[in-house]
Amino acid sequence: MCGIIGYIGPKSVVPVLIEGLKKLEYRGYDSAGIAVVDKGKVQVRRVKGKIIELEESLRKSPLGGTYGLGHTRWATHGRPSEENAHPHRDCTGQLVIVHNGIIENYLALKLRLRDEGHVFRTETDTEVIAHLIEKYFQGSLEEAMRAAIAELEGAFAVSAISAKDRNKIVAAKLGPPVVVGLGDGEYLLSSDVNPIICHTQNVAFLEDGEMAVIGPAGVTFSDFKGNPVQKKIERIAWNPMMIEKRGFKHFMLKEIFEQPEVVRDTLLGRTSLDSGKVLLDEIGISPQVLRRVRKVVLLACGTSYHAGLVGKYFLESLAQVPVDVEYASEFRYRDFILDKETLGIVISQSGETADTLAALRASKDKCAAVLAVTNSVSSSIAREAHGVLYTHAGPEIGVAATKTFTAQMTALVLIALYLAQVKGKMDDRASLEFIEEFQRIPHKMEKILRQAKTIEDLALNFVAFSHFLYLGRWVNYPVALEGALKLKEISYIHAEAYPGGEMKHGPIALIDENMPTMAIIPKDRVYDKMLSNISEIKARLGYVLAVAQENDPQIRERVDEVIPVPSAHPLLMPFLTIVPLQLFAYYIAAKRGADVDQPRNLAKSVTVE
Ligand code: M6R
Repeated sequence: MCGIIGYIGPKSVVPVLIEGLKKLEYRGYDSAGIAVVDKGKVQVRRVKGKIIELEESLRKSPLGGTYGLGHTRWATHGRPSEENAHPHRDCTGQLVIVHNGIIENYLALKLRLRDEGHVFRTETDTEVIAHLIEKYFQGSLEEAMRAAIAELEGAFAVSAISAKDRNKIVAAKLGPPVVVGLGDGEYLLSSDVNPIICHTQNVAFLEDGEMAVIGPAGVTFSDFKGNPVQKKIERIAWNPMMIEKRGFKHFMLKEIFEQPEVVRDTLLGRTSLDSGKVLLDEIGISPQVLRRVRKVVLLACGTSYHAGLVGKYFLESLAQVPVDVEYASEFRYRDFILDKETLGIVISQSGETADTLAALRASKDKCAAVLAVTNSVSSSIAREAHGVLYTHAGPEIGVAATKTFTAQMTALVLIALYLAQVKGKMDDRASLEFIEEFQRIPHKMEKILRQAKTIEDLALNFVAFSHFLYLGRWVNYPVALEGALKLKEISYIHAEAYPGGEMKHGPIALIDENMPTMAIIPKDRVYDKMLSNISEIKARLGYVLAVAQENDPQIRERVDEVIPVPSAHPLLMPFLTIVPLQLFAYYIAAKRGADVDQPRNLAKSVTVE
């Protein structure tokens, strides 16, 4: 977590850092700070709170300078406070660093450095890095950084500037991401591409064990031993407009509305309506390898895990392979059993989630291949997996994942069809029919989005509730989980999701007039069962809202409120049923005055374990 930014070039550095931090704020937002070099001196400004507070502080008392660093924090060691905010200083205050990650041996280092006379001012793990660099500094900032990081255990993206070795910013990576932007006479460092693309679309991604030094005349790359490294310069296709709100009150709402486009974009060019074939040569795992696959294991966290749960139904129904779906954060600590006939699929919007990356690393050599599904080009997960299928969702800024969820489900449909194709489990005609059904989904999503106002009016009746139950069955059970997660994370209302059939085994005891139920009940193979589950709730005076198909008149007799959605192939209903649940959570949270795009305690990219 945390976002780091560095800039050196002709532009006024403070506005560049502030604008960059705003684009990184989704990574953490409990405190923020910048350090700039002005007239040969390092000046630091830090605040508790969000970038807006930092901006306010700089408005009251401006800083100038020609280059500098910025940081937005998600606290791990040390509470959110001005003192614990980055940049952190050495004893002189003239060498400063920003850090994303965790230094596991910081306590031992701190005690040793203290004995050697260094004075610590914060409760953070990060501060040891500044003092270590100070200790080893003999005129070259990069050499001192190299010596310092050799002593660190843990994960770091760290960047430093020093008044004693001027006109350069040094960065090193072991774990969390560092992207270098190479503009026209200007260079940037950042935790992701978002702050860079308004300056340049040319970037290089540091690998673990690599360092970069940026200065007014260019950038040099090396490894931790000091050997030069040649980096590939990549061109990012995203444009700056993609990270604007475009008239929507929040990024989350904009991103919910982008979903039809995202499904279209993720499908684009990957299916043939002539042959009924799915065209996925791009993934980089050969059909020969996939043909031998007898089992699939999906690994992910949070919303990506929920997409994986939906993917299980696609893969089992279409490709007819058994599928396990595992929390990456749990899987990695298990005595898991994989074999060379198992395909691993890791799903991660950011491509940087530490638990998912660790699960990928743990499973990589133990199975046939690991395929990554990610939205982040050249992210760690994309680079380390054997193959990758990119979702084309564009940048997702809202901390609560929405459009990347539907993009991941789209990717999983494609993978399921492709696997079915190479394994001969589905003929071209059946595949074509399914693809044609799928291509109608974006249009149906648009129809639901046109009902947003009705969903808002309905949602406003539930703003004061403290608990919610979400029920779904079969392929819509994961949708219930995702709907409940959305409500929890942005509105702070307690919400639990269950498969409808589990209610009678305990949760039904919760039902009373203060516990409304959101039931997802399309007309699929478990429709009648869900109706019975709903009746059991109604019989106990529970209030039931239902997301149901618009061609289902009888549901209106059975529940208190209905949110209608169009009909589709039963396996594809999650693409439709999730949309009202996202809107429902959004409107409740917005009405409660919650910080929808940056909910408390969360961060977009969880790069700590
Ligand atoms: O970047 P990832 O997809 O790996 O992130 C996984 C989770 O951290 C993420 O989905 C999280 O649960 C979101 N806040 C959900 O809205």
